[in-house]
Amino acid sequence: MGVTPSGVKFSTRKFFYRRTKMASTVQREGSDPGAAPYGNFINYYTFNPPENRLTLIPRTLLRDIGYSSETSENITVLDVGCNSGDFTVALYRHLQEQESSSRTAEGWVHLLGCDLDEGLILRAEQSNPFPNSISFIHLDVANDEHSRTQLGSYLSKFGRSSFDLCLCLAVTMWVHLNHGDEALLELLSRLASLCHHLLLETQPWKCYRSAARRLRKLGRGDFEHFKTLKIRGDMEEHARDHLVRNCGMKLVRSFGSTAWDRTLMLFTRNAIEVGKEESTQPSTN
Ligand SMILES: C[S@@+](CC[C@H](N)C(=O)[O-])C[C@H]1O[C@@H](n2cnc3c(N)ncnc32)[C@H](O)[C@@H]1O
Repeated sequence: MGVTPSGVKFSTRKFFYRRTKMASTVQREGSDPGAAPYGNFINYYTFNPPENRLTLIPRTLLRDIGYSSETSENITVLDVGCNSGDFTVALYRHLQEQESSSRTAEGWVHLLGCDLDEGLILRAEQSNPFPNSISFIHLDVANDEHSRTQLGSYLSKFGRSSFDLCLCLAVTMWVHLNHGDEALLELLSRLASLCHHLLLETQPWKCYRSAARRLRKLGRGDFEHFKTLKIRGDMEEHARDHLVRNCGMKLVRSFGSTAWDRTLMLFTRNAIEVGKEESTQPSTN
């Protein structure tokens, strides 16, 4: 077991593979994403460009969930597992366009992208066209204490204690495979407690099998938890069930299907009636 400069634990074989072989596999096989143990593909957006999902997300999303630049001073958005930041930046532009008639999202929407992979975060920072509005940090969202400390510190700059919107797209499977059932449920609970609205894209079970197969094909064994996972099958349903039953959230919309036949599920905290939230008030929890 080794530890990257960013503190991420890797088996030395996995680390060697990620740094050396993955790029060549991707280049050689074109659409085959290769194997990256945490989904930290170095060229993720060449095989899943931001537009694949942005076309499903209405430009009026913020307005639809009750925020507008006229009434809301600051909107805080968290993008969990942001990879190299391409989607984060594209989303910012996407949301900006709805406000063209009055104020733009610049200075109004504040986006924070976080990822486990320090190298990807560095790339995101270096190519960030909106450093005043978009920030990137290295963070393991499976680590409760660090997440709360680092995210809390970001939010405090805005006098807030939770994000207006959190995106968790194509991340749950990696936490699940690497940390197990409990960690998956804890992640969902953590995100629900950290935001008013959650846009979630879970990976279907067939992706778990493909990820495990890719790893095995390369002689790297299985993900630590793959064989013992009890939560399996309809992953959207499992996530929805946990968020609704245990986290005080409700599913308000589904945007689907993506080019990969996945749905983006929009959840809102139960206490919030969509479109009627007092978005100018700092959140209290
Ligand atoms: C398949 S990519 C998805 C990227 C982006 N969310 C999207 O949908 O465009 C998964 C990302 O999740 C990140 N990731 C996996 N486990 C994580 C964790 N525990 N904390 C933070 N990021 C994580 C990986 O490093 C990778 O960049």
